[in-house]
Amino acid sequence: MLIDPAAPLRGPGGRLELARELLGAAQCVAVFTGAGISAESGVPTFRGADGWWRRYRPQDLANPLAFRDDPLLVWSWYAWRRELIARCEPNAAHYALARCVLESAGAWRIITQNVDGLHQRAIAELSGVAPGEVPDDLRPLALHGEIFRVRCSECGHAAPHLEPIDATSVETLPCCPECGALTRPAVVWFGESLDNTQLQHAMGVAEHADVGLVIGTSGLVQPAASLPHMTRQAGGRIIEVNPDPTPLTELAELWFASKAALIVPELLEGLAGLEGGTGRFRP
Ligand code: OAD
Repeated sequence: MLIDPAAPLRGPGGRLELARELLGAAQCVAVFTGAGISAESGVPTFRGADGWWRRYRPQDLANPLAFRDDPLLVWSWYAWRRELIARCEPNAAHYALARCVLESAGAWRIITQNVDGLHQRAIAELSGVAPGEVPDDLRPLALHGEIFRVRCSECGHAAPHLEPIDATSVETLPCCPECGALTRPAVVWFGESLDNTQLQHAMGVAEHADVGLVIGTSGLVQPAASLPHMTRQAGGRIIEVNPDPTPLTELAELWFASKAALIVPELLEGLAGLEGGTGRFRP
């Protein structure tokens, strides 16, 4: 049952206090994020007023047939997105979540639809390591892939790829170091399945979580949109952060109609400090 979003936010018995109590008492927290958490970092969302899908047709750019027919057009778009994202920095919401992941020793796990790598960068920066060196059990589960990784269109070899993409001709596009074939962005395109191992892992995290914290997703794209439902159906509690209501808001007990970078740091403030890796936080 959703607590009245107009009820007091702060102070004794306020909605922030109630949310902190739920999160502080949780053994495991699943954090489900979408493009909205990166909006204040300058990364466009997909369906917002200035979103990617308002300007481009996904079927023209983000699907295997488009890549087969015109790899140069598809790579030119991804090269432009990579350059834009490379100029963006994680925001306060990314860092607040990264702190909780690190200080809970993985009892908090991020499951993101975002391919921008900003969660990984925030965790790596707070850990003092390179993004590629973040231990697997602390890495976000990036369900839709990572825009700074490439995968061979023939043999499937995948690897990080941070260099600028030379999209002046098909011949200058990145090729597989193993078989020489053209590589593609290691992201999930329309009509493609998610990595099943990663999806099964994400479903396990969702079902095991005492609290699901849903941040900045329209809740429209499957199977990611089903994960908070799995948390709820397994008895977990749902908290949502999104300026607008979504199909997931009906699952939430607490909905913060706010921008992530504004409310998430305040929401998670004081939750740090793990007692011996038990997944519990000092109040
Ligand atoms: P959408 O663009 O569909 O939704 C973004 C959500 O973020 C909306 O609900 C906004 O209200 C919310 N939002 C906007 N600004 C925000 C802010 N500052 N703080 C918090 N929330 C904010 O993006 P996703 O839900 O992530 O798929 O889209 C899911 C998938 O659809 C993407 O991963 C992509 C796209 O097609 C693939 O690429 C496979």
